[in-house]
Amino acid sequence: MAAAREDGVLSALAPAPAGPARPLQASVFVCVSCRRPRGEGETGGDPNVPHVEPGRGFAAALAGALADEANIDVVPVECLAVCRRACTVAFVAPEKWTYIVGDVEGEAHVAEIATAARAYAASETGILRWADRPPAFKKGVVARVPPTAFRPERAPT
Ligand code: FES
Repeated sequence: MAAAREDGVLSALAPAPAGPARPLQASVFVCVSCRRPRGEGETGGDPNVPHVEPGRGFAAALAGALADEANIDVVPVECLAVCRRACTVAFVAPEKWTYIVGDVEGEAHVAEIATAARAYAASETGILRWADRPPAFKKGVVARVPPTAFRPERAPT
């Protein structure tokens, strides 16, 4: 798991704590650069700017929700190129399909994205069964991308 910075966001650049190697089955990348206009009466972040960056708090909250999952890392990143659908996350693992999910609404979706992350880590291919997809995941999927070595059994028509 990545180390926590003073602002509560996990830093992928911080040295990993020493310990035995463990199989990493999934990473959830969370964009901490996404911005959206501050809602009426909404607090959080710098009160002197007219926007909020929902990914910052979301990354820390998601890491907390998945703290017991030794094989899932939550990694903050700068921009996943889905900037109009703040905030955005990506489910990534070696040899699995990658999912990009947008419209994640801060702490309201922490439990759902954590549930999806557990299902993703447990899956063989990364493709989640419809029944395993929480509502925020179903509604927010922007794209899925095959693993590097994927080759279709037949050419697309
Ligand atoms: S700033 Fe978040 S996806 Fe671009």
